[in-house]
Amino acid sequence: MLRKYIGIFVVLAVIFISAVGISTPTLAQTKGEVPGTALGIKSDTDLWRFVRTGNAGTSQMKDELAAVMIQSEGDNWRAFRNGPLSVYGAYGIIGIIVLLTIFYFVRGRIRIDAGPSEDRIQRFGTIDRFAHWLMAGSFVVLGLTGLNLLYGRYVLIPIVGKDSFATITAFGKLAHNYLAFAFMIGLALSFILWVRHNIPSKLDLKWLAMGGGIFAKGVHPPARKFNAGQKIIFWAVMVGGLSVSMSGIALMFPFQTSMFAETFGLLNAVGFNLPVDFTALQEQQMNQLWHGVVSLGLTTMIIAHIYIGSIGMEGALDAMNSGMVDRNWAKEHHNLWVEEEDQKISPKPAE
Ligand code: HEM
Repeated sequence: MLRKYIGIFVVLAVIFISAVGISTPTLAQTKGEVPGTALGIKSDTDLWRFVRTGNAGTSQMKDELAAVMIQSEGDNWRAFRNGPLSVYGAYGIIGIIVLLTIFYFVRGRIRIDAGPSEDRIQRFGTIDRFAHWLMAGSFVVLGLTGLNLLYGRYVLIPIVGKDSFATITAFGKLAHNYLAFAFMIGLALSFILWVRHNIPSKLDLKWLAMGGGIFAKGVHPPARKFNAGQKIIFWAVMVGGLSVSMSGIALMFPFQTSMFAETFGLLNAVGFNLPVDFTALQEQQMNQLWHGVVSLGLTTMIIAHIYIGSIGMEGALDAMNSGMVDRNWAKEHHNLWVEEEDQKISPKPAE
């Protein structure tokens, strides 16, 4: 008897459970539908795809970025920063150091062919040297602290440990932020002081065709105050320095600028077909990558400049130290400039 009642109870229970749907979710999910009304007829996959591809939902917050749960361009940003930017940046820096080392052993230090003279000639005044060292000193610290942000975790942590690395990086970041302004002042001053000597001329083509005379002894193409190689450095530092400064300011004051949209808009006006519809976060990410690309390029070039301005060439550093250079050095590397200076002191009578 009891068995009969238990049997009826079980049958009724199964019918009841099926009726209220407790057993249905598994079945519904296998059909691609989701129980409840939250997703409507959409599946988890649809929702995930929507969120994962960076779409905005709705939010009570005023910041429109708050409605984006996952900003997918962040993946591209990270992949580029930790991939090509870091890898090719390291190739550039290590590559130029290797090349300069080979150059040093093959060519040796570029000496004054005629030997040092007794006579000296003023090449740079106090204000020129102040501008140069303000720009150079700040750039070196900016470069080192910037490289630390990109490579420090791989290079320094194994050597100094995580705690010291954290302290170095925190102070480095402060130095990076504040010295940026010293660099900008040095850059602007150098531009004002030297731009008139850096206008390209026909003479530069000759200088370049002769490789600047740096590969063979006794070869000295004519040059005025700055030769073609120096003009290239000057313009690269000015244009690159301005660009790195602007992207750096955009990083210091996030989400305030739309420089990429504006620049691409200008380029589109002259025939390009670039996207201009960027969110504030995308602008920020592109600023960061651009800042890295330009500063790594500049750093690579400046390593070569530092080499040639110091150990690479006898007599060069005096120009930025005391401002007075050896007359034979000046005649060999900047013969037309020496003539112009002599002419100022004792003008030749007109023929
Ligand atoms: C830190 C080590 C550096 C040394 C030893 C050094 C040395 C020199 C020297 C000797 C000159 C004068 C060349 C001449 O008389 O013809 C010069 C010029 C110049 N330097 Fe530097 N420099 C250094 C760093 C920098 C940095 C970091 C920058 C820019 C970010 C820079 C930018 C320039 C520019 C634009 C000129 C004028 C064009 C030229 O000579 O190439 N220098 N430097």
